Amino acid sequence: MSHPIIAIDGPAGAGKSSVARALAERLGFFLLDTGALYRSLALLARERGVGWDDGAALGRLAGQMQVEFGRGPDGGRVFLEGRDVSAEIRTPEVSLGASHVSLHPEVRAALLPLQRRLAAAGPCVVEGRDVGTVVLPQAPVKFFLTASEQVRARRRYQELRARGVEADPGLILREQQERDRRDQTRSEAPLRPADDALIVDTSDLPLQGVVDRLERICRERLGL
Ligand code: DC
Repeated sequence: MSHPIIAIDGPAGAGKSSVARALAERLGFFLLDTGALYRSLALLARERGVGWDDGAALGRLAGQMQVEFGRGPDGGRVFLEGRDVSAEIRTPEVSLGASHVSLHPEVRAALLPLQRRLAAAGPCVVEGRDVGTVVLPQAPVKFFLTASEQVRARRRYQELRARGVEADPGLILREQQERDRRDQTRSEAPLRPADDALIVDTSDLPLQGVVDRLERICRERLGL
């Protein structure tokens, strides 16, 4: 691929989505949210009666799944088999399903060509967990965003409260620790920074400051 690709990986709550969206906008690149593919697969599996623990069937489904990204008045939209599923893939149930389906090697393998095909469309910011290590290791600019466990759990708590969802801060922290452990120890594409990724700790930085810093680095490295 000859066009610029920026990989942004890291755990949930590190600020990846907001930073990736703002960075793509500033650079005029499109945003490829790879988590939306795992979420779409979880939703499609539920609708087709395929269990989230059935790796082989999920792998087949992932190989046939049609997902497209578009734009709407309120930001990016996700279309699954031609249908706008942007809201449906963000429900707690589908989030849980996505974390299950993403554990299967068959699923990760089947989603690789789809992710690469989508990234081939033009200059893009690609957000995920294994973009810099597995999906697009040739990306010329790679970031790995992190934040302390406490800060990530607090952000999640505030996000839920803002949506009117009651939440228990202690439970959020414990569930997050469990998810981190699963993500970092899974045999297939465990969550870790690529050797040539720049690690950015966002614990004490406002979003704006993170985006400014990343934009400066991208422009320098890509000669924009
Ligand atoms: O980033 P997110 O919350 O939308 O991701 C949804 C799920 O998919 C999450 O459990 C992590 C997983 N995922 C993954 O395993 N690899 C990716 N490249 C992106 C997401």
